[in-house]
Amino acid sequence: MSSIALLVASTDEHFRDMVRESLLNMPNAKVVGEYPEISMNLYVRVLQDLERHPEAALFVDVAGDPEVHLKALEKIKQAAPDLYVVAANYAGDADTVIQAVRHGANDFLQLPLRRSDFRDAMGRLERTPRRAATGGSRLGRVYTFLGAKGGVGTTTLAVNMAGVLAQRKQNTVLIDIDWCNNDVAMHLGAGTSPHSLFDLSDSMGRMDQALFEGLAARDPLGFLYMGPPDALVPQGYFMGPVFRELSTFLVEKYESVVVDAGRDINSELVQTALQVSSTIFLVTAQDYPSIRNAQRYLSFLVQLGFTVDQVKVLVNCYTKKGGPNMASVEQIQQTLNQPVFYGIPQSPAVLAAINRGRPFVTNREAAGDLDRIFRLFVDKATGRKKEEAKSA
Ligand SMILES: Nc1ncnc2c1ncn2[C@@H]1O[C@H](COP(=O)(O)OP(=O)(O)OP(=O)(O)O)[C@@H](O)[C@H]1O
Ligand SMILES: [Mg+2]
Repeated sequence: MSSIALLVASTDEHFRDMVRESLLNMPNAKVVGEYPEISMNLYVRVLQDLERHPEAALFVDVAGDPEVHLKALEKIKQAAPDLYVVAANYAGDADTVIQAVRHGANDFLQLPLRRSDFRDAMGRLERTPRRAATGGSRLGRVYTFLGAKGGVGTTTLAVNMAGVLAQRKQNTVLIDIDWCNNDVAMHLGAGTSPHSLFDLSDSMGRMDQALFEGLAARDPLGFLYMGPPDALVPQGYFMGPVFRELSTFLVEKYESVVVDAGRDINSELVQTALQVSSTIFLVTAQDYPSIRNAQRYLSFLVQLGFTVDQVKVLVNCYTKKGGPNMASVEQIQQTLNQPVFYGIPQSPAVLAAINRGRPFVTNREAAGDLDRIFRLFVDKATGRKKEEAKSA
């Protein structure tokens, strides 16, 4: 039997519970995405999840508000025409079914859901030859930097990645969610900013590009950035759900979103950022305490449901051989049971750049090898010049 991955969209919690329960006795099937809201931008989240699970099918309950939900379904199908969709509604008359099919449903189930009907539908889904349903990558990518320890260079790498992407004329946004540190502003020499992520909590409902760009600061390199308020204040409403909405907006409008997530992997805000990320860079130094923590972070990430290919290990201040108090690459890979994605060398140019308040990629000459190697890292991270990066 082939395996079934389901995305489940329903405003009704019982519906989602029931689907999950029904799948319990189908060992080859699981829910890989759940959406409690069905709105016009649901397609963004569906596309993001399809990138991770190209074989997934969508099970959508349109009963809550058929008119709106069918429009949302239509948009999803436009974005991902090969996605297999099962629609469900309490009404089961011909008109309802035809409407669902016209908006893109491949199959229809009448509610309340009967187990046998559900099983049959899963059988039909299994028998239908499917093409991977990815919608091509029209959405921006989210690159999140997570530190396995404090001071390992998370902010440095995030800031400079945004810098390189902007230099490459990518429409880029840098978001600092390391609430306690607010270091991105310092690395950018940005001074106090009148607006912060805090202001977004109230405006998310009516967010558009003009509003966002009015609130965000623009770095001279060309990317936009936002972070926590200058003064250390409680996080307030800037929590996971707001960030999720923000990221949905950002990936629709911008090509790249870089997030400095700091190192607080237990925070709900950070975990939400990880969930919406195309790639998570776990940043570590090469000393044993950092490597040990990287290992703890990796197993926690797996526990949280992340797959190995979503998480890339970045070793900062890297030397190939290690040293008296440093693990070698072999030791790191053995401990983490994962390859090291890239090593960024140590360089005095980093501290000089922080003191100047400009990313080191703004001064290629001073940063020398660091700059060159960092750009190769960005190539590999974004899939640019694949061959070139491989041989480096
Ligand atoms: N590749 C490097 N070479 C030399 N020094 C580096 C390098 N990367 C980072 N550093 C130094 O490490 C210090 C911490 O860097 P950074 O602020 O980027 O780390 P962080 O992990 O974000 O720290 P925090 O936990 O405070 O958020 C800085 O003083 C910086 O100069
Ligand atoms: Mg930092």
